[in-house]
Amino acid sequence: MSIEDRVVQRFEETFGEAPPYLLRAPGRVNLIGEHTDYNDGFVLPMAINRAAWIAMRPRRDRRVILHSLDFDDTATIDLENLQYEQPGWIEYVKGVAHILAEDRELIGWEGVVGGDVPIGAGLSSSAAIEMAVARAFAATGNWPWDAGRMARAGQRAENEWVGINCGIMDQMISAAGRRDHALLIDCRSLDTQLVPLPPDTVVVILDTATRRGLVDSAYNERRAQCRAAADFFGVPALRDVDMAGFTARMNELDPLTQRRARHVISENERTLAAAAAMTRGDAAEMGRLMNASHVSMRDDFEISRAELDTMVALAQAEPDCYGARMTGGGFGGAAVALVRAAGADSFSRSVAAGYRQATGLEPQLYICTATDGASVITGR
Ligand code: GLA
Repeated sequence: MSIEDRVVQRFEETFGEAPPYLLRAPGRVNLIGEHTDYNDGFVLPMAINRAAWIAMRPRRDRRVILHSLDFDDTATIDLENLQYEQPGWIEYVKGVAHILAEDRELIGWEGVVGGDVPIGAGLSSSAAIEMAVARAFAATGNWPWDAGRMARAGQRAENEWVGINCGIMDQMISAAGRRDHALLIDCRSLDTQLVPLPPDTVVVILDTATRRGLVDSAYNERRAQCRAAADFFGVPALRDVDMAGFTARMNELDPLTQRRARHVISENERTLAAAAAMTRGDAAEMGRLMNASHVSMRDDFEISRAELDTMVALAQAEPDCYGARMTGGGFGGAAVALVRAAGADSFSRSVAAGYRQATGLEPQLYICTATDGASVITGR
């Protein structure tokens, strides 16, 4: 049974009626543009066919009562008195409520949440929950869906309530994704541009089965190094430095800061070039840019690890692969590949077998489709 059906079924068992609202917010995979979001730069993610689902009905009081299928746990939150308790899934719900309540009266609701975005794989299961919860409050409050505002609220919930210092990419693509497209997001203005996937290609997610949380200091350390580089150039963010400006002064930077800045500056350029390549249907060029992005993350930003490098090399060696790179925050999780659609099954089998043999780990491969962002599903 699909996760969507399980969420609806549990709602019906609990409340004795069909859910008046069924909401969905997807996880994401980033095709290119890594660690550029908090540098006010460009990212090119797509929303995927794995999502968080909420079935719910409004309440007359100011409470949210929610059962999580994934954690087999029911929690009640009081919108009049939100308190952080302890790390756990419900804090994402509270954090979003807390931020949204700053400028709106929230209406309570009750229901069931469940998802099929693998946790910890770097596919943004937390952004999916945040945007599903925001979508639920928007539905009960009858507000129009403002993707940028809701994404900022989700990011702030994560930064200020949950305590994870992420950028805007994950929430923005979960809020604003579009079926059959990736989204070029300008992380400064939050302007978006739809970018079609090249014809006859599919995106394959290659989960290495290695994990490393974002709470880790390495992410914050990279942010600080980027900040230092932007300060050196005297600009608000590294987005404001181009390759020529960087090359002219790079020798004045210490070698480490130089490498970090070079990754971000070159990655922004690659991301814009990738959006252009995809728009003209040039899968080969897109693949080349993905491969170059991996090298930059491995050598300059130093956020890869042996298993990711192995997975990427195995993918790149396949005849049907245009390009592959690690994706997401780094240090574990998944890689992503652009693959000729007709060869996707044999690609997946062959890469999985090679990875098992090389590492002894059991990878998960997902041939995925690009879906809409957070939405209310009607017609049930
Ligand atoms: C994590 C963060 C994002 C982004 C990526 C790296 O996924 O949540 O905001 O910084 O890492 O591109």
